[in-house]
Amino acid sequence: MDKFSRWVTPLKHRSVEPLYAGQNIEYEDFPCTIDVTGPLLYTLFQERWRDTQIGHVVEGSVLELEFTQPPKICLLYDGYLTVVTEAWHLHLCIEEHLGGPLQKTPPELRQQRLIHRASLYRRLNDRGEARSWGIQFWNGAGEKMMNLFLPNPFLGADEDLLPEGKPQLDKLSLYEELRQIYVLGDRPMPFDHNPLKRPYISVCRSSRCYPSRNWPPIYEALQQAVEEAGVDVTVMNAGCLEVCKLGPVVFYSGDRTWYTRVTPEIAKQIVNDHLVSGEKVTYHLYPPMSEIQIGTVSYTNS
Ligand code: FES
Repeated sequence: MDKFSRWVTPLKHRSVEPLYAGQNIEYEDFPCTIDVTGPLLYTLFQERWRDTQIGHVVEGSVLELEFTQPPKICLLYDGYLTVVTEAWHLHLCIEEHLGGPLQKTPPELRQQRLIHRASLYRRLNDRGEARSWGIQFWNGAGEKMMNLFLPNPFLGADEDLLPEGKPQLDKLSLYEELRQIYVLGDRPMPFDHNPLKRPYISVCRSSRCYPSRNWPPIYEALQQAVEEAGVDVTVMNAGCLEVCKLGPVVFYSGDRTWYTRVTPEIAKQIVNDHLVSGEKVTYHLYPPMSEIQIGTVSYTNS
């Protein structure tokens, strides 16, 4: 695994695309590796959620979503960042999506889904003056993915246009800060590790893989074992972990490992053997070791 660096290496790539009626949009690209997009998105969704709106803009269609409170969940699972609020949720592919424990996603589709380009942008009017600010992502097919709207000094509460000549220019501070860190590389990222890569261990709570849904004993055993071992791993529960049989199912995000038929005792063993000592509990792995060894599953987990 590459060592996390707090400094972004600038791409030094700026482009201007014409819109219509003399308007343009300026893009300044920045690296879209997980160790850059992870800290950026964590900052915007977890810390600056009041200043961030989620958008999707194509000709003829605009979507804008805002946070009214911090997200309930902001979690990386199998390459997708999932952000859940009281009213809506989103998924954004920021790392290769393998397709669950059986790695069902074909290699070309993994590349198509993944962010391949990221830019800070400004929309410029016919006099070259910036009128809106944000972040745009593109996937591996060159299609526009979602974008993020950053605070606009020309808009007041309820999106009303402020009087001509009276912009609230201090609202540009977030854009300027992000530009210094991610585009220019003049300031370090405010993290000493990728906050979206902090490992977690999760138990499925759905009835499809575990009809009794008696997952709390597994969850409690994981929590107790993690606490006793003193490992920096978050214990969670999830709606589905893509195995959907042989429950209770447990997933460890640190190296994308799935376990099945987990009892409270096995949960403790997973924590002590795998999370602490790095030795997987092979008898409960999914897919089973036998399938990995005879090659029916190409096991290339990162
Ligand atoms: S329902 Fe439990 S893993 Fe899918």
